[in-house]
Amino acid sequence: MASVSITPMEPDDVDDAVSVFETGWTRELSPPVRERLAVSLAHLVRATPEGSHVARIDEHVVGFATADVADGLWLLSALFVRPEHQQGGLGRALLSAAFESARGTGRRLILTSGNPRATRLYASFGFTVHPAMAATGRPNLETLGAVACGREVGPDDVGELDAIDARVRGAVRSHHIALLLSQGARGLIAHDGPQAGYVLLRDGAPPVDGVPLLLVASDDALAAALLRQALALAERPVTIDPLTANRQWAYRVAVDAGLRLMPAGAVCEQGIGQPASGWITSPLFG
Ligand SMILES: CC(C)(COP(=O)(O)OP(=O)(O)OC[C@H]1O[C@@H](n2cnc3c(N)ncnc32)[C@H](O)[C@@H]1OP(=O)(O)O)[C@@H](O)C(=O)NCCC(=O)NCCS
Repeated sequence: MASVSITPMEPDDVDDAVSVFETGWTRELSPPVRERLAVSLAHLVRATPEGSHVARIDEHVVGFATADVADGLWLLSALFVRPEHQQGGLGRALLSAAFESARGTGRRLILTSGNPRATRLYASFGFTVHPAMAATGRPNLETLGAVACGREVGPDDVGELDAIDARVRGAVRSHHIALLLSQGARGLIAHDGPQAGYVLLRDGAPPVDGVPLLLVASDDALAAALLRQALALAERPVTIDPLTANRQWAYRVAVDAGLRLMPAGAVCEQGIGQPASGWITSPLFG
């Protein structure tokens, strides 16, 4: 009989986890994207060792879940089971193991891929589900209306980005930002009177290409200005996701940019409510 186990993820399991990720993703990852994902998962395992687990059948890794706890915010970064082993309870078992690390945190977040099983699973764990759309396509720079704002983010800005995160997200994540900058993410930081915001872009990051990876702003007008500027810098098709109902400013930017609007994954949360309108989240790093 096959032996099934759920155990903490070790750094040595990361390559297998990336292979499982690829089976749940619709196309093969290019070598640099694969490498960046492996580095990101290893970083998440190091940051919150108690949050990451692998499922094995007869010693083969067939699923994994990665959850991160940073400054009191719990985030499920990834949950994947190989297609041939789905519908057997492994997804639920992995989520239960990851959810142990949520004890003691009041704020919990999952950014779903839109997979109906996953959404049902999260709702069954008591998460509130906020439906969302995504905007995709190559930005039309002539109609976008980008106006230069802010300045480029550098490694010395991590403290300033922390202050914006604390204000808007209610939690800092300096170690994640430092990783993203070390992986070549480009960013802009802007102030408008008392308002502040930033956006980070990373080319070719899964699960979508050329996205404005993270955007955090204390005010919708500043968020819109940063997003327009980020779209102008993207130089390739983008996906802006998730656009919840309170992010109408982003819908207007998407329309001006000529992007397509389509149904997408939901934002699932406990203890947060509808996340701040100026906070466009990243699946891996919140
Ligand atoms: C989401 C995923 C991890 C679930 O893994 P799984 O091993 O199939 O999950 P389980 O067998 O534990 O089932 C979990 C829940 O999914 C739902 N589900 C499972 N099979 C289903 C089916 N055939 N039809 C509808 N719902 C189903 C059920 O809600 C089930 O919970 P239940 O115990 O209340 O019935 C898996 O489908 C997957 O890897 N998908 C691709 C990657 C992905 O989208 N990940 C989520 C990122 S947000």
